[in-house]
Amino acid sequence: MAPQIMSLEKGGQDFPAKLTTQVVVCSIIAAFGGLMFGYDIGISGGVTSMDDFLLKFFPVVYTKKHRAKENNYCKYDNQLLQLFTSSLYLAAVVCCFFASKCCKKFGRKPTMQLAAFFFFIGVILDAAAMNLPMLIVGRLCLGAGVGFGNQAVPLFISEIAPPKYRGGLNICFQMLITLGILCANIVNYFTSKLHPYGWRISLGGAAVPAIILGLGSLIIVETPTSLIERGKKQEGLKALKKIRGVEDVQKEYDEILQATEVAKKIDHPFRNLMKRSSRPQLICGTILQVFQQFTGINVIMFYAPVLFQTMGLGGDASLLSSVVTGSINSASTLVAIFGVDIFGRRALLIEAAIQMLISQVITGVMLEEHLKATNSISKVYAYIVVVLICVFVSGFAWSWGPLGWLIPSEIFPLETRTAGFFFAVSVNMIFTFLIAQAFLTMLCHMKSGIFFFFAAWIVIMGCWAVFFLPETKGIPIDEMNERAWKKHWFWKKYFNSDDEAIKPVGDKASTEEKA
Ligand code: BGC
Repeated sequence: MAPQIMSLEKGGQDFPAKLTTQVVVCSIIAAFGGLMFGYDIGISGGVTSMDDFLLKFFPVVYTKKHRAKENNYCKYDNQLLQLFTSSLYLAAVVCCFFASKCCKKFGRKPTMQLAAFFFFIGVILDAAAMNLPMLIVGRLCLGAGVGFGNQAVPLFISEIAPPKYRGGLNICFQMLITLGILCANIVNYFTSKLHPYGWRISLGGAAVPAIILGLGSLIIVETPTSLIERGKKQEGLKALKKIRGVEDVQKEYDEILQATEVAKKIDHPFRNLMKRSSRPQLICGTILQVFQQFTGINVIMFYAPVLFQTMGLGGDASLLSSVVTGSINSASTLVAIFGVDIFGRRALLIEAAIQMLISQVITGVMLEEHLKATNSISKVYAYIVVVLICVFVSGFAWSWGPLGWLIPSEIFPLETRTAGFFFAVSVNMIFTFLIAQAFLTMLCHMKSGIFFFFAAWIVIMGCWAVFFLPETKGIPIDEMNERAWKKHWFWKKYFNSDDEAIKPVGDKASTEEKA
């Protein structure tokens, strides 16, 4: 086991590295994958509340919406309408699997290029849609783009970033997700006034981030880890010098090399993930995604205009309110970019859980008291709810949103990284799909109780962050097992077993123990 011993005293934090323009530019270009994703999240809610769109594809919903006596909470309850939103995530789940293979075999860069390609095809089909099947097939192609992008981008950024800045740079991905959502909200606000084709412009606008990612990915570097992993050692060394901006990268290079050697011994990364010693990362990486979605964020992101219309705000006010929540979402993400490597991951998650809990509970109580099936609430109450939703969104935006992507991209050792991250991304997509598909029906049946449902989940996830999540701030990505997991009161027991056939890199302590 000797070759796997590493010098932990000289951990990656001490690797000489500058925050080079190269790293910043590559991270920003890659993060355009987030803009594609975000634009899609934000566009569907506005489009599905536009009458022209409903008339063309969902006439039943259109009629229901305009029936005066229709139950407030049930106007939009229609499985097909929800399928329009959710189908994208279904395709994304399936494609994540192929994307994880592609990432490993061909690299992070071509995976991002494929993402842009699928996305572009999807945009064309949707903007030109003549009927429902064409619209849904377009959504499926967009989903393929999102699956490939979400798999490759966070990994790419985490691998090129110097450890000290990894959190902040990785959150560029989330930042662009939120900007994508915001752009979509603004576009919807204006296109809703353009009859009868405004929705086509909304859907077609998604081409912009796809083109930027596609063209931008021609000039970005491949990650040194991916190059070395695929046997291109010299290219990997060159890339490392280029992105670090220093000549003296030997230590970091050696560490990556050792990590890739361990990884190469694994024929079946997916089987390896099932090992006892992979369980902590797998459980935490995937459960974080479930929790991220059970904050209820996508109820707001997908259906805010619909939700605000449910509360009796007019169509225009509803779309405008979602522009406001969208702006809060982007602005608050900045807090995460600057705070994550200072306060750490756990502090942000715990503080935000409390903030989100308070706002969900008060919203639930207000709607319970004032919004019955067929009345409409006073404008004052409606706007107080908008403010509460902004408080909720800001909490999410500096915690569970970005960290849902950051943490799974940094906690796996290289040998299970793409496979493990695949699980995390696909669980995220599955739960996004479930929320998108079920929310309008849940709203119809649970009414304001839906806010208490999400509040209960927030209590659970807050406790989980307190007790079960190790802090990963500043720890070099290839030393995570040693410095985060093996030191955690609960997870450390998973590393004492003989089941650990292949020692993680940097496993000095346990190697010495055996000796
Ligand atoms: C989540 C999305 C969510 C978005 C909101 C992302 O991190 O994965 O589901 O819509 O944040 O900003």
